[in-house]
Amino acid sequence: MKFKWVAGAAMLASSAVVMAQDQQALYLEGLAVTCAACHGIDGRVHAGPGVPALAGKPAQELVRQMRDFKSGTSPATVMQQISKGYSDAQIEQIARYFSSQTP
Ligand code: HEC
Repeated sequence: MKFKWVAGAAMLASSAVVMAQDQQALYLEGLAVTCAACHGIDGRVHAGPGVPALAGKPAQELVRQMRDFKSGTSPATVMQQISKGYSDAQIEQIARYFSSQTP
């Protein structure tokens, strides 16, 4: 009887971990989908001159570029406005997401 309780508690705990991971993945895709309109699904751009691909670029480089857009140091047509909509923590999460996509 006691064993059943322990096993049940362990199963509950592990499904909570899986749910948290699913939610995290969903949250990240929600952040990245805003970028997909221009940079392509998963950061692989197909058309559109002047819109660089993001997939597979080093996360640190993406973070630096987003921060430079946000602070206005980097010249841009649209990215200065867009980057201002994200916190530094969100920028790091988005950068890791695109960095982990296959170019
Ligand atoms: C409306 C179209 C559009 C959207 C939406 C958009 N971008 Fe951009 N992005 C651009 C363009 C165009 C450039 C080139 C710089 C410029 O002119 O602003 C660029 C440049 C960049 C660069 C520099 C890449 C390089 O190699 O020079 C990064 C990084 C970037 N975008 C990240 C993002 C992220 C992350 C998002 C989503 C939060 C996003 N962009 C959403 C159009 C867009």
